[in-house]
Amino acid sequence: IAASLVPKRLAGHKVLITAGPTFEALDPVRGLTNHSSGKMGFAIAAAARAAGAQVTLVAGPVHLPTPRGVQRINVQSARDMLAAVQSALEDVSIFIAAAAVADWRPADFSAKKIKKDGSGAVPSLAFVENPDILATVANSDRAQQGQLYCVGFAAESDNLLAHASAKRVRKNVPLLVGNIGPATFGQDDNTLLLIDAHGSSALPRASKAQLGHALIAEIARRLP
Ligand code: CTP
Ligand code: CA
Repeated sequence: IAASLVPKRLAGHKVLITAGPTFEALDPVRGLTNHSSGKMGFAIAAAARAAGAQVTLVAGPVHLPTPRGVQRINVQSARDMLAAVQSALEDVSIFIAAAAVADWRPADFSAKKIKKDGSGAVPSLAFVENPDILATVANSDRAQQGQLYCVGFAAESDNLLAHASAKRVRKNVPLLVGNIGPATFGQDDNTLLLIDAHGSSALPRASKAQLGHALIAEIARRLP
């Protein structure tokens, strides 16, 4: 869609988006991560920019070009992502959490590569829970006062509507977007389920670029 043809529904808005996976280092050469291409979040950033918003994109490690006119902040871990989000939140009116954040990180980082000792013994790894970036932002004063509209995504393997509806309430966000169908990772098209306080509706299968524009239009329609 040519940017010049997109209605400027978000003119005057500052939009902050997380995208991609996070990477939780275990040692200098290893870590824990997620499957996420970042394509959906990058498409949403491009669409928000085309709709006239000032856009900041906090991206985990992905190999994607920065959409034109978007300010990009690269991060690795969930804690880095939270810090980058918090430092970019000023005057933001829409926060969209499209990142696949690693739920846990290794409890200890080894500054030196962990070596095999030759005996066949395996390391025993302990994990700690990462901060929930979306829940942290959604529970901030500005979000609670209706000045910051928060949108979450839900990655589910089954029972999407039930899990995603529960997640929307638990995360305390007005809009949650579910990925329909198992094979969305890394694909260029997708189907999205939108869940808000009134119920759910599907955006028909389309390219991630088209879905980005459709989602931005749905968000603009719901702004207080
Ligand atoms: N999210 C986040 N920070 C986390 C975990 C999730 O910001 N530490 C955000 C994601 O970007 C997404 C939403 O929360 O917008 C839901 O993520 P998801 O992984 O589906 O939910 P979880 O609450 O982590 O629950 P679970 O993975 O157990 O289903
Ligand atoms: Ca999760």
